[in-house]
Amino acid sequence: MLQIDQLDIYYGMIHALKEVSLEVHEGEIVSLIGANGAGKSTLLKTISGLIKPKKGDIQYLGSSIAGKPAQGIVKVGISHVPEGRRVFANMSVEENLELGAYLRKDREGIRQDFKKVYDLFPRLFERKKQLSGTLSGGEQQMLAIGRAIMAKPKLLLLDEPSMGLAPIIVKSIFEIIEEINKEGTTILLVEQNANIALSVANRAYVLETGHVVLSGAAQEVRESELVKEAYLGGH
Ligand SMILES: Nc1ncnc2c1ncn2[C@@H]1O[C@H](COP(=O)(O)OP(=O)(O)O)[C@@H](O)[C@H]1O
Ligand SMILES: [Mg+2]
Repeated sequence: MLQIDQLDIYYGMIHALKEVSLEVHEGEIVSLIGANGAGKSTLLKTISGLIKPKKGDIQYLGSSIAGKPAQGIVKVGISHVPEGRRVFANMSVEENLELGAYLRKDREGIRQDFKKVYDLFPRLFERKKQLSGTLSGGEQQMLAIGRAIMAKPKLLLLDEPSMGLAPIIVKSIFEIIEEINKEGTTILLVEQNANIALSVANRAYVLETGHVVLSGAAQEVRESELVKEAYLGGH
């Protein structure tokens, strides 16, 4: 579905991604783990068209999307849930979800997806008229994911959905991520929380200072010495 080939990204003198290659097959959950500053968000921003690559290619469903504008990338079925959630605080839950569907014209499909989001996240339904800025952190993360689903993605990019949330909330959000995947959406997940990210993934990649240093089946990655020592606290 997605094939990233030898991608290089620079911010001025900073070489943030170094010959990164990665693939995601239809139906998978692929996790990309790495410490703060490894380049995880940069990779997702490049896939979703927020950063233009100078070198390397991104193939999606058989054609190159490298350097396409972000709106065009949403239209072909890739939605990005950014780090730190970024909901529109002064708009209601419902208005935020409507914004997720702004490029769509199929009213009936949009109505069905509202129902889908509210079924996945009953807490959002209960709070649909509430201003988003007054939601808890976990509810804002649910809303950010819900808004991305309103674009009807084939591929969902999630940037650190666990960040800043209590373990019990993280657990429930990850159960919903698995459910979204089972309902047919392919997922590329970026996380510093290696434990939870590896527990839901089919395959995983480890990124260190812009390099992919390890990849494989999630179970293999979890059992590697590198990951046990550096990312799972020796467990
Ligand atoms: N807008 C930017 N301008 C300059 N450097 C940046 C910018 N965004 C990220 N970086 C740098 O690029 C590297 C990778 O950052 P990032 O992709 O945010 O990492 P991660 O998401 O893994 O924490 C870091 O060294 C970071 O300081
Ligand atoms: Mg990041």
